[in-house]
This record gives sequence, structure tokens and C-alpha cells, in this order.
Amino acid sequence: MNITAKTVPLGVIGSPISHSVSPEMHNFLLDKLELNYFYAAYPVPPESLDAAFAGVKALGIRGLNVTVPHKEGAYRLCDRLDPYAAEIGAVNTVVNDNGRLSGYNTDAPGFIKSIAREGVDPAGKKAVLLGAGGAARGVASALLRAGVAELRIINRTRDRAERLAGELNALYPGKVKAAGTAEGAELLINTTSAGMKNSESPFSDYGVLSPDCVVCDIVYCPRETVFLKGAKAAGLRTVGGIGMLIYQAVIAFELFTGVRPGEEEIEQLFRRMEMKKSIALTGFMGCGKSAIGRELAQMSAAEYIDCDDYIVEKAGKSIPEIFAEVGEAGFRDLESRCIAELSEKNGCVFSLGGGAVLRRENIDLLRKSCNVVRIKASVEKILRNTAGDTNRPLLNGKTPEQVTELLAAREPYYENCDFTVDVTHTYPNQSARIILDKITEKA
Ligand code: ATR
Repeated sequence: MNITAKTVPLGVIGSPISHSVSPEMHNFLLDKLELNYFYAAYPVPPESLDAAFAGVKALGIRGLNVTVPHKEGAYRLCDRLDPYAAEIGAVNTVVNDNGRLSGYNTDAPGFIKSIAREGVDPAGKKAVLLGAGGAARGVASALLRAGVAELRIINRTRDRAERLAGELNALYPGKVKAAGTAEGAELLINTTSAGMKNSESPFSDYGVLSPDCVVCDIVYCPRETVFLKGAKAAGLRTVGGIGMLIYQAVIAFELFTGVRPGEEEIEQLFRRMEMKKSIALTGFMGCGKSAIGRELAQMSAAEYIDCDDYIVEKAGKSIPEIFAEVGEAGFRDLESRCIAELSEKNGCVFSLGGGAVLRRENIDLLRKSCNVVRIKASVEKILRNTAGDTNRPLLNGKTPEQVTELLAAREPYYENCDFTVDVTHTYPNQSARIILDKITEKA
């Protein structure tokens, strides 16, 4: 991307916004399609929404995505609305045509496209929705427009379900009701935020569903929620939330630029974001695995796990304490057990301890479910990164020549990694992008 005076600004507003993956997705598509726009994230606190909208007009920002807590406010501030936005009462995409703002809701059609990709058509189906908040409203509207036979809404707070069902029933008479059970459902969608914390699920009664029920979650981090795991264990088909996130961006992208991403670009975006395989970063201490890992996780809306932190949490003691108690061999055993556990988790970015490669079986096991990436850096960069860190006995007080020797001795252990990225001359976010690019290309 080369920003010039002709480059057209796009962006996303929200509060907080630093976790947003929209810049990553939109800039990826802009780059692929060689369009002269850039896409940035703007933190806009609740009280500044009006000013932000005035700024969009004043600065000629062409398009804006809108996320929590501004979707309802944006609805109020647009000059015209698309049918989804009008029905849902929430806008997630704003297009600025010379000061006239059009508001769209691309979450709803994004959901329909994400299930269509999996061959699921809601038309004529008995659908059940878990949750009655803002997200539920969007998905409900999408399902009703797509022609479901009936829609039942189940919510922890029954009153809210009754209210939402009442409002939707006014628009789609006889189609919607608040319910206590999901019995006979052919489509079950979680719109509650329950699955975002790893252990929670808003539902467990899979036995009452139709045997061919498709179970969907709009939560995408973790990629496979406890809710979806339960459905899978019950032998049901599942669709995760990442597709909705991708398609809402793809639809917004076309509204901003007038260019529809092709199947190839969409597939690449899926390869980039879907994280069918987790990413495990390995490399010598001080090469920057943690910083790169955090960037990678942020860019792909994945969970970041530092393997050493995981070991410490598991053992309930610090690494020096573990070494003092059971020696290095005991620590390596524990590390291998933790790596085996982590290898079962999908949609994650792991950074491994520098010595994890010493046991080849660790890497062999990880490669079954992860892209194992070796991070390489020059001796000078490693010494710079670890300068002043007295917690690195292997490196403390060593000359560059001695570290070069240590690195050479480790070299054979990295042979079975999937690929190597040399980060000597790149910042962590650039290194992370290079890794994502390689995974995207790999197919
Ligand atoms: P959103 O815009 O993401 O939908 P919201 O409007 O705050 O956010 O709605 C959150 C939804 O998730 C609600 O349906 C909420 O249930 P309540 O109405 O009973 O609060 C649901 N929810 C959140 N945490 C939940 C949990 N742990 N178990 C079940 N439902 C939960």
C-alpha cells in the first residue's frame, strides 16, 4: 500500500476499537484488488459519535464501518437507510456520497451468506434463536427475510425474548414467538455472547433438536465454542461465526468501492481468518515470538497463548521453581504434556518456549493441527531484544560469537517446521502479516 494525496480514506469506529480485525480484512482486499484506498480504525467514545459523523463529512471519508456501541447511533445519524438497517434499527456500514450518508446493515446478509457457503438455506426451516439482544435482532431479520417457516426466540431473560418476538411479529405476522424449548429445530443459532468466555454455553439440550439440525454460532473467538463442540459431539452439523464476520466485510467493501471481491479473494480471506489450523511460533529466545504472536492473534481474531505462561498456570509455580524441583528433564516432560493439550485447540496462536524444539515429537505433534512457523532473527537483533533481561541465563554475558555458535547448534532442530520467516528487518506487525500472507498462499 502506498498512500498518496489521491488515496481515499475508509475506516471503522467503535469503543473500544483496538481489537477490530476490520482493518486487516479491508486492507487485504484493497491490496489484492489494487484499489487506492486505505482503511484505519478510529476510537470514538460514546459521547463523540455526532462529532465523528460531522468529521466523516468534513474530511470526505468515503466509508465507515460501525461497531459497538455505535450501531444504533449511526442508524439515527444517516440520511437514508437500506431495508435491513431500517428494519433492524442498527447500522454497521456507512457510505458517504459527497456528504449524504447512507446506512446499511451488512451483518444480516453476512450471516445468510456465511451459512449459504456451507450449503444451508433457511427457507422453509424451523429456526430457533438463542438471545434477544442487538445481534439477535439482526440475525432474526435476516432469517425472516430469507423465508424461514417459523422463528422461535429463547433468552435467559424471557421478557426480552417476548418483546423482540412481539416487535418482529408485527412485521412478519404469525412467524415469530418467544419459546422455552428448541424442540424440533432445524436451524439453531446462538447470538448470545456466552461462548466468548471459553467455558460457557447458552444451551445443552441438543437431543431435542431435529437430527438434521444445523447449529450456528455468531461468536468467532474461540472458533469452536463450547456450544458448537456440544453440537458436534451430538452428531450435528455446525457453522462457526467467522464466516459472518468475513461476509459482512465483503459486502461493506463492495458498497465502499463499487468493486465486488471475487471467489478467489474471498477464499483467501477465509484461509487467512478461518484458522482451520492454529499457528505455533518457534524460534530461539529473543527472536520476537511473543510480540509477533500477539500481533498475529490480533490480526486474525484468534486466541493468543504463550506456552510458558500456560505451563506456569498448569503447574501453579514459576519456571525457575519447576526447574529447581524436577530439573530440566521434568520441565521438558511437563512442556510436552502442555504442548499435547495445546495441539488440540483450534483457532489459536501459540508462542513456544525456545527449547520446545529440542524434542522433535513436540513439533511433529503440533504440525498435525498447526502451521509451525520458525521465527529467525540475526544474532545482533536477538542480543538487542534480550539486552538487560537477566532472566536468560543461556544468553546473559555471552559474546555475539558465542550466541552464533548456540544458534548454529539449534539449527537442525528447526528442520521439520512448516516454514521459516526471517524477522531481522521487520517490525512485529509486518512479520505477522508476512506469516499470514504465507498461510494465505499455502492453501
Ligand atoms: P448483543 O448486541 O451482542 O446482542 P446485548 O444486546 O447485550 O448484546 O445482548 C446479549 C444477549 O446475550 C442477551 O440475549 C443476553 O441475555 P439476557 O437478555 O438475559 O441478558 C445474552 N447473554 C449474555 N450472556 C449470557 C449467558 N452467560 N448465558 C445466556 N445468555 C447470555
